[in-house]
Amino acid sequence: MKTSVLKLNFSKALSSLYPSEEIQSFFSILSEKYLGLTRLELALQVDKDISEVNVNNFETAILRLKKYEPIQYILGETEFYGLLFFVNEHTLIPRPETEELVDWVLKETKTQDTRPRSLLDIGTGSGCIAVSLAKNLPNCKVSAVDISEGALKVAVQNAFANRVKVYFEKLDILVSKRLSESYDIIISNPPYVRELEKKLMHANVLTHEPNSALFVSDENPLVFYRKIVRLAKKYLNNGGLLYFEINEYLSEGLVAMLKEEGLKGIEIKKDVFGKDRMIKCVKNE
Ligand SMILES: C[S@@+](CC[C@H](N)C(=O)[O-])C[C@H]1O[C@@H](n2cnc3c(N)ncnc32)[C@H](O)[C@@H]1O
Repeated sequence: MKTSVLKLNFSKALSSLYPSEEIQSFFSILSEKYLGLTRLELALQVDKDISEVNVNNFETAILRLKKYEPIQYILGETEFYGLLFFVNEHTLIPRPETEELVDWVLKETKTQDTRPRSLLDIGTGSGCIAVSLAKNLPNCKVSAVDISEGALKVAVQNAFANRVKVYFEKLDILVSKRLSESYDIIISNPPYVRELEKKLMHANVLTHEPNSALFVSDENPLVFYRKIVRLAKKYLNNGGLLYFEINEYLSEGLVAMLKEEGLKGIEIKKDVFGKDRMIKCVKNE
């Protein structure tokens, strides 16, 4: 089969399900992965023969796209903070707003007199936060926990592929009464989407991404934050920092809870869309 025919078949198969720009974008992403061709090379090589293996790869991708599976799961990888991460159905697909959180931490550590010596990422998923921080803070001991064995397996692979050391541990943060050690920084992007927000979400997120990574009950949406704050008060070193990614609709309640718990220096940061998305506070005894 020639490239031009492959492209035509691909577009036809998906035309009733996705806008044409999105189909073009899927096609060039998949061509780069399977054929090693950039968008320009693809346009110049319309008569190139495609191997049977690659025709099958595209056919499988079409079937998965028809089920609205995210392209990152089909590729098995995505980029985060300039690094490549494996992803699968056990891991949330890392989001751009989480890159902003990582960036905030890194910018702040550069302006501080003392560099963090130890850091814990709670609910690590693919390991995107822990691995990208470890990559950029070479003298910091980075640890990470998650309840999901499937996610931890992927996170271990991601640390290895990106050549960093991260100490992973399986832990249910909601039941755990302790952490393994004390830290200079604790960071978390915990589940924070209320059930009532499901109707605002795309079908591909709801069907394919792990529900346990995303959702909390409408009655107790700050359950993870409250538990992590209580542990942080015990396991953050004095002057240590706590960073969270947050639900834009819950920032007020979260600030009130942090004040109640005696944390200091509370600072909210908006994401590129102007939404309350990150929060930082300090443990000062
Ligand atoms: C919103 S995802 C964040 C994943 C990743 N850190 C990221 O930013 O892309 C939340 C993560 O918390 C984990 N998680 C859910 N419940 C947990 C629990 N009780 N204890 C520890 N981790 C939990 C999920 O498995 C998921 O990986």
